[in-house]
Formats: sequence, C-alpha cells, structure tokens
Amino acid sequence: MIINDLWYKNAVIYCLNVETFMDTNADGSGDFEGLSRRLDYLAGLGVTCLWLLPFYPSPRRDDGYDVTDYYGVDPRYGTSGDFIEFMNQARERGIRVIVDLVVNHTSNQHPWFRDARSSRKSKYRDWYVWSKKRPRGWNKGMVFPGSQKSTWSYDPEAREWYFHRFYDFQPDLNTQNPEVREEIKRIMGYWLELGVSGFRVDALPFVISEKGPSIGKPVQDFAFLRELRLFLQWRRGDSVLLAEANVLPDQDLNYFGDRDDRMPMMFNFLVNQNLFYALASADVRPLIGALKKTRQRPITAQWAHFLRNNDELDLGRLTKEQRALVFEKMGPEPSMQLYDRGIRRRLAPMLNFDRRRMEMAYSLMFTLPGTPVIRYGDEIEMGDDLRLKERQCARTPMQWSTEPHGGFTAGEKPVLHVIDDEVCGYRALNAADQLRDPQSFLNWTERIIRMRKECPEIGWGEWQILRTGSAHVLALRYDWRGNAIVAVHNTDDQPHSITLTIDNADRTSLVNLLSNDHSEGDGDGVHKLAIEGFGYRWYRVGGLDYILRRSRS
Ligand code: GLC
Ligand code: CA
Repeated sequence: MIINDLWYKNAVIYCLNVETFMDTNADGSGDFEGLSRRLDYLAGLGVTCLWLLPFYPSPRRDDGYDVTDYYGVDPRYGTSGDFIEFMNQARERGIRVIVDLVVNHTSNQHPWFRDARSSRKSKYRDWYVWSKKRPRGWNKGMVFPGSQKSTWSYDPEAREWYFHRFYDFQPDLNTQNPEVREEIKRIMGYWLELGVSGFRVDALPFVISEKGPSIGKPVQDFAFLRELRLFLQWRRGDSVLLAEANVLPDQDLNYFGDRDDRMPMMFNFLVNQNLFYALASADVRPLIGALKKTRQRPITAQWAHFLRNNDELDLGRLTKEQRALVFEKMGPEPSMQLYDRGIRRRLAPMLNFDRRRMEMAYSLMFTLPGTPVIRYGDEIEMGDDLRLKERQCARTPMQWSTEPHGGFTAGEKPVLHVIDDEVCGYRALNAADQLRDPQSFLNWTERIIRMRKECPEIGWGEWQILRTGSAHVLALRYDWRGNAIVAVHNTDDQPHSITLTIDNADRTSLVNLLSNDHSEGDGDGVHKLAIEGFGYRWYRVGGLDYILRRSRS
C-alpha cells in the first residue's frame, strides 16, 4: 500500500535565506515582509516548497546556525506576526515551507549555555558536554579545518572544557540528556503548530552521536530518529524531516529506518559528489555506481538531489584522483577551495557560465531518482565573490534588477554586498531582465520545473540504468503506474551516437517532451540516437496518451 499524498515525492524545493532575499524597510537586511512580496515570483517559477535557512534570534557568527532562541524570529527579519503573514501568503499559493532545525548545538550566547557555564549546579549544566581535564582528542574531528582549531575549548567561567563539533561559539547540546530530547520535540511542535511542513535537520549524524571526553568511536542512537518521526507525524501527519547526513551508503538504512520509521528524506551527498565528478570528467560510470549504492530505501522514503547548496561543495567521498580532477576543472585556484575537501564557488562560474552545460547539469539533477532541491539565485546563473571569506562568497543577496544593490534593498548598506562585477554582477544577471527574455536561464528553469512536475514517474517510480554504449552518456528509465520515462544526458562536450533498447511490448517509440525530435525504434525497440555535446532528452515511452494509461495504483 502506498499513500498517494506523499507530497514530497514530487516536490520541487527552493532553498533561501530570508536575510539575503529581499529587504523592504531599507535596513539592509532581508525580511519576512520582503519574502512575502516575492512569493509571486517563486510561485511563477513553479517551486512547491521553500526551505528557509535559520532565521531565529542569533548573533549570526555562522549565518544563524548559532541559535540563541528556538522559539522566535530574529527582529532583523521582522516579527512573529510577519512570519505568520508569510506562512499564510505561502499557503495561499500552495507553497509549503520547511525550516532548519539546528539542535546539535546552540550559540554560546544562548541563555541555556550562559546559565550552564555559570555554575556546576545549573539546571542546564548537563545540557552541554563537559570535561574537567583537556580531553585526549581535543584537537581532532573538526568540521571546518583551517578555520576551527579544536573540538574542545576551555571555558574560564565554567572552569571546564566544553565540546563543540563546529566552531567554538557553537557548544554541542548533550543530546543524550532526556530533557534536551524533550526540548527538541518542543521546538518541532512549536513550528509545526505555526504551519510548517517539516524540517531540514542540521548535522544529524552528530545529533545522534554519543558525546563526551572519553568517547572513542561514538555509538549512534538511531532509536531517537524513530522517536522524532513518531512525534512529528502524530503532530502533523503530512510533515517531513529532510536530513543532512553525509554518510556512507551502508548507513543509509539506519537513517531511513528499514521499517520506514525514521527519516522520510535525506540529501544524497554521494550522488552529488559523483555528479560533479561526471560534470568534470564527462565519465558517468562513477555516478551510476553512486546511484546503485544508494538505490535501497524504504517505500515512503525519498532522496533529495541537489547541485550546489549553502555550504562548500564537499568532495570528501571521492577518491584522491577524482577529487583532484574536479578541483582542476572547477576550482583550480586555492582561493576557490575550502576546508581541504571542497569548492566554495557557485555553480554557474564552476561551469564557466556555459549555458549548454548549465542546462545539462540542471536537467540531469532534475531527472535523478528523488526530489530536486534548488538554491536561490541559481535560476538566474548567479555567481560568487571570492573576496568574501569561507562560504560567504556564495551567499550574496539575490539579484532582482538593475536598480541600486540589485533591487535587493533601498538602503545604503546591505548585510552582504550585492555582486557588482561585469560578469556576474546584478547589471549582467538579474531576475527582472531574465523575466523579459524568453531565452533566459530563468525561463528555462521555469519550463524544466513545469516539466518535472508533469513527470511524477521520476519522483515516484522504479528506475533502471539503460545501456547506452557510451561512458559519457547516462540513460535512466523510470516506470510508474503503467507509464515510462527515459532521460538521456550527454556529459561530454562532443556529440555521441548511442543505442538504447526500449523493452515495452510493441509501444517502443520515444516522444521527446522538450523538443520535436521524436524517435522510432526498429522492430526490436532499438533506438539509435545522436546526442549533441552536453545534449539532454526527456522522453515518454509509447506516446502521449500516458494520462489515459496511468493506472490507479
Ligand atoms: C551544517 C550547515 C552549515 C553549518 C553547520 C553548523 O553543516 O549546513 O552551514 O555551518 O551545519 O550548524
Ligand atoms: Ca529589512
């Protein structure tokens, strides 16, 4: 039995930061009012779900991933009332909202931590992770090598060492403490009550890890994931958890739960890294390997696929040689690289603003088995500013028009400057110009989103790799409720002739959904296709009577 209304199976998710999206009161910081006014733009693009990066009160030393109050809106972005107005406007347009759940750590300015460090007797002392002596592994396991010096720091006020997986201003919560677990559910319950459709769960493997000074290899408490899932779906049946867990494939089912009872969604980092390898090398075989390794998932679970996200492109799961090649092709300068493992640029500059490659990359991502997640600005080919430090270079404000500061703010001083160079500045790349131009990347993205929504086979179906006879060309076939889709992508800049066999009774013709070059197979369903450099095809198998042929279950 499968429930028809699992909305996330065929969603298109758009990720944005309220702070850098749209400012309406000229203080230089984006706000909920601005986001509300831009909802028509987002509805027009066709996205069905927004993922909001943290907007909670915070000193924002890590762009809001250092929370000081889980139950509020940072006044810079407006009031709780503005949030509710925004939620209402989003619902009006049929757009769902998921929000970041950042509970591996708090800010060191959070009242819990301030109280905890003030006394051993504090009610909150045990909400964090302490050690009287400097632990052995104090300078091991940093997430941000180069910018972060240790994972344990001495706190003079507490007169003990505290654990922080991330920056030293982000003390880890003691997630084994039952009170902390209760609080995490309370936070979820709060936002669910305000209408969100779920959470992107930050740093999940660390949330469920044992933490402490004498822990060698931490045991992970997967049972806690089930607790969270049960709570979530009891409170709001149609909500999801989208886990950030960059783990090895043999761990996937621990996170999804082999009885479909843990995380409904996870980002597919393995496929992401191999997808970039395919873009860099024009060899799709490792990508096929990654797809196969992550094939297994319970029936209601779903992968989320993406190209770039708010962080650096982490290439840590590739081999040394593969990683070196992606660096060479897409981020050769040391200033483009970060944390010894990744590239910090935006997608368009990584692909040299080559429109054919951009389309192919996005089309490929949109046809992977799962749900696509796109990032604000990518739809207008936004670039980066490498003069900004670490991940900031790719977090600049949205470029709306040719007005001052790209139309992001009427104020003098935006939170982060709007890119203003010749190649990727707001005069060259902005939403207003691209809305006017039928050939723009923005309008292309709108069309591909529209097509993706009309192909639920991709989000829901069973998939298989079809042989193409070429290491450069990926062909994926999806089957669902009596219909089939075939997606073909040539990752090489050279044209390639391929052969595909469509095994489908006598209905083997391929109808191109994006242009007029359909293909008739021979009597055995064998198609010979010539695909131009960076070419891509979305085909329906059989004909366009798929709506009539779709079965009910
Ligand atoms: C996640 C976020 C990243 C943040 C970190 C600490 O990895 O994606 O932006 O810095 O968690 O919360
Ligand atoms: Ca503002």
